[in-house]
Amino acid sequence: MPAAIVVKNLTKEFEVPAEGKTGVVATLLRKNKKIRAIDRVSLAIQEGEILGYIGPNGGGKSTTIKLLTGILTPTQGEATVIGFTPWKERSEYTRHIGVVFGQKSLLNWDVAPVESFRLYKEIYEMDEATYAARIHYLAKLFTIEQFMHTPTRKLSLGQRMRCELVAALLHKPRVLFLDEPTIGLDAIAKQKMREAIREVNRKEKTTIILTTHDMNDIEELASRIMILDKGKIIYEGDLDKMKNEFAQEHKIVFEPNRVKDEKKFAQFIEKYDAEQSGRFYTLVFNSKTIKPKRVLDELFDLCDLEGFEVFAPTLEEVIREIYAHQPA
Ligand SMILES: Nc1ncnc2c1ncn2[C@@H]1O[C@H](COP(=O)(O)OP(=O)(O)OP(=O)(O)O)[C@@H](O)[C@H]1O
Ligand SMILES: [Mg+2]
Repeated sequence: MPAAIVVKNLTKEFEVPAEGKTGVVATLLRKNKKIRAIDRVSLAIQEGEILGYIGPNGGGKSTTIKLLTGILTPTQGEATVIGFTPWKERSEYTRHIGVVFGQKSLLNWDVAPVESFRLYKEIYEMDEATYAARIHYLAKLFTIEQFMHTPTRKLSLGQRMRCELVAALLHKPRVLFLDEPTIGLDAIAKQKMREAIREVNRKEKTTIILTTHDMNDIEELASRIMILDKGKIIYEGDLDKMKNEFAQEHKIVFEPNRVKDEKKFAQFIEKYDAEQSGRFYTLVFNSKTIKPKRVLDELFDLCDLEGFEVFAPTLEEVIREIYAHQPA
């Protein structure tokens, strides 16, 4: 499969006022300093792939998206998205991409979403039949039929975000940039949004870059992730690989019912340094050295259980671990 997006050593610096004394004169004399929002970022995304682009606040995610959508021009480096250099061929390029910024609206607040959709129809020069069919499909997929004729300012955040997605997808873009599309949505709205995005991706082979702070978005949508911290990519890989590499600390909580051999059970408790709290025991172990199944087999041999649960690390914990491995 061909690469839809290729980025090489992309760097963006912003000039910001250097810190110093305040006051009119001091401010006038004050020099600017440069900060590198992103620093030699390179990446390649295959057609139809959904890349989770994640990292802490200020990491440079939105800056990358603004560069790749042609809103900003880089200080250095190159990028090609479906054959275009985003910041050079913007007007033609925009016809092939869709963008949603969770923090910024594509829709006119004073009119209903459908009015905005009509405006985009004109911009994208879609004929009436194509437009009608597309709206029919997308309105159903994102379940916006009930409120797409209501002025945008009267919509709830979740309703508006679904309309934003419809606006971004109207012209069947080949690449979709989603910068925190689920921000502020409740669990059900997030779930609906994810399902619809997945469907579009599957059906239309849309290449998607998704930034989010919601790890469930990543788990459910992304096939591969990149972690950006202080402008640099600190991790790249598929999710399963990352979990295997980093997600090692597992936990088993169990409640014994009948212990078959008290002595052996005591040895087991000691070996795993299990903690007891009332009827429950918790043991923590590294899954790289001991497989959870082995621990459970041992446990089943020693006692009948009232109940047990195995906890693998969450994606959030894994990512925290990756950050922790970074040099300061
Ligand atoms: N227009 C600008 N002028 C000056 N500095 C900027 C500008 N835009 C971004 N920055 C700085 O660049 C860095 C990266 O910001 P960016 O918005 O890309 O981060 P982010 O990863 O999207 O963060 P968040 O998770 O909070 O959305 C930050 O230090 C930010 O303050
Ligand atoms: Mg951002």
